[in-house]
Amino acid sequence: MKIQAVRGMQDLLPAQKKISRTIEDVVREVLAAYGYREIGLPQLEQTELFKRVVGENTDIVEKEMYTFDDRNGESLTLRPEGTAGCVRFAEQNGLLFNQVQRLWYSGAMFRYERPQKGRYRQFDQIGAECFGMPGPDVDAELLLMNARIWRKLGLDGDIRLELNSLGNPDARVKFKEKLAGYLQAYEQDLDEDSQRRLTSNPLRILDSKSSKTQEILRGAPVLSDFMDNESKQHFEGLRRLLDDNGIAYEVNPNIVRGLDYYNKTVFEWITTTLGSQGTVCGGGRYDGLVEQLGGKPSPGVGFAMGLDRLSLMLAEKMESSKDADVYVVSQGNAARATALRLAESIRDQLSGKKVVVHCGDGKFKSQMKKADASGADLALVLGEDEVAAGTVSIKSLREGGEQSTISQETLAQYCLDYFSKEN
Ligand code: HAM
Repeated sequence: MKIQAVRGMQDLLPAQKKISRTIEDVVREVLAAYGYREIGLPQLEQTELFKRVVGENTDIVEKEMYTFDDRNGESLTLRPEGTAGCVRFAEQNGLLFNQVQRLWYSGAMFRYERPQKGRYRQFDQIGAECFGMPGPDVDAELLLMNARIWRKLGLDGDIRLELNSLGNPDARVKFKEKLAGYLQAYEQDLDEDSQRRLTSNPLRILDSKSSKTQEILRGAPVLSDFMDNESKQHFEGLRRLLDDNGIAYEVNPNIVRGLDYYNKTVFEWITTTLGSQGTVCGGGRYDGLVEQLGGKPSPGVGFAMGLDRLSLMLAEKMESSKDADVYVVSQGNAARATALRLAESIRDQLSGKKVVVHCGDGKFKSQMKKADASGADLALVLGEDEVAAGTVSIKSLREGGEQSTISQETLAQYCLDYFSKEN
């Protein structure tokens, strides 16, 4: 039997690697523009770190970690995420007490999940973590930075922001009790995962994908009723800052995230173009984590984006991009010669636009089908009549589909005006 790559671990062909490199370059540039500094983190950490940070009752710790004993008998784990290692790093290197830090890292993460499109057992993240800043301003800054990255990648139209606040830990404990109490009565009707979570981690039931469970949740108590005033104000402050800066979002009370360390702000950037694995970036605040790991208290907030998912999005976008901006159809030898000449004149005027001439014979109708399929905005039509009159017919392939006939001399200028209006 031939040896194959481990299930869920992707090979990246040159074209794929090129796309992920493009994304990394953009992210790197944007992070630098906001004053974030890159750090390097090990891929292996002591298992105990993830148990304590991510949480014993999370899917990650319960069933997804690659854990083994090294030759010394010490339990080590391939990092399933970057925040735990970053907090450990910042504390160990004395970067926290009375300081403000904006840090970022990138690299492979490992989770033993069921592989599918957009979900792998080894995947790349770029993460940013900020320390020492308790206010909502830095949360807003992280989201502005994300939005700038999506814009630069041309993905902003396909990614939306969902936002929630988890309040302080006390509020969450009270809410958890009430929620579990409510759901107990419906235990038999919950999906299998949610039944299991009812005792271990009832909050995670909120983001169950089962429609029956979501139906039951409609009558459940809501976290915002238990939220402390300070968290409420923090969340309102963040929403104001986002509104002022033109960042659109939807408040989704069901976002709880799959890691235990969050308080107050949590968010996910989601696309519908990738099927069920649509979260391309997630993050939030974790003000109690440094102290929980034995350091002096220092608030923290951050995010991580999935490079593999963003690469898929960008690749799909590039594939669906059109083959032509202008498609020239013609019939007869004289018309073909004119078509080639006119196409040259348009290319001289319009750099960056694709002008495709239909080569070879074919009925006008079948040539027009090709023009449509090419994704072009304009079809130019040249038949015997046009050649005799020195004109060219132009058909818009966009909605509306207007048609006009103009003189061949004015064609290049016509195209120039058309595409400059479009931009
Ligand atoms: P996360 O939501 O677990 O958060 O992961 C962040 C992103 O990594 C996801 O939105 C997704 O794009 C990507 N990702 C996660 N699992 C997979 C997978 N199996 N295959 C492909 N991509 C995946 C965290 O990891 C937190 N450390 C984020 C954070 C930083 N919170 C605060 N600071």
